[in-house]
Amino acid sequence: MHALNDDVRSRAKPALYDELGTSLRGLLAGEPNLVACAANMSSLLYWSLPGLNWAGFYLLDDDSGDLLVGPFQGKPACVRIPLDKGVCGAAAAQRRTLVVQDVHAFPGHIACDSASNSEVVVPIVLADGRLLGVLDLDSPAVNRFDEQDARGLERLVAILVEALGSTGRTPAGG
Ligand code: SME
Repeated sequence: MHALNDDVRSRAKPALYDELGTSLRGLLAGEPNLVACAANMSSLLYWSLPGLNWAGFYLLDDDSGDLLVGPFQGKPACVRIPLDKGVCGAAAAQRRTLVVQDVHAFPGHIACDSASNSEVVVPIVLADGRLLGVLDLDSPAVNRFDEQDARGLERLVAILVEALGSTGRTPAGG
């Protein structure tokens, strides 16, 4: 199985994200189903990156235009996030990664878990330009995430997008 151990968690960030990229490619190899890929990716991140209390996905619901909670690890979370709300909504609407050092200072932040103090959200955009949703990581530590995390997570999201190919959807179309 893939390395989810203290050895991985103790690496310096660039080496850690390189290692996670290798693990993620292995986990997603040959599987284009969104839920399957997102589920294993959220587990990999939650158990490999230190200092997280939530790691997972919010996926764009084509019917409502809202973000809906997808596969994740951590405590139960807010189900539905409009694009004009929260860090997740802002990152999705602006299609750019947002690193929030102190979520309490972010206007409109949605507190799913009062233990969260910092957050990074990476938009997921398919090769054809469609917005699929966002990857969201939360931490109880203030200032847990930096530019190295942002760039590292963007590289991991690119691996997910590559695995999903042109569909980026579950077989049921959800
Ligand atoms: N804090 C997020 C909501 C999602 S939870 O943290 C899992 C936000 O403001 O968008």
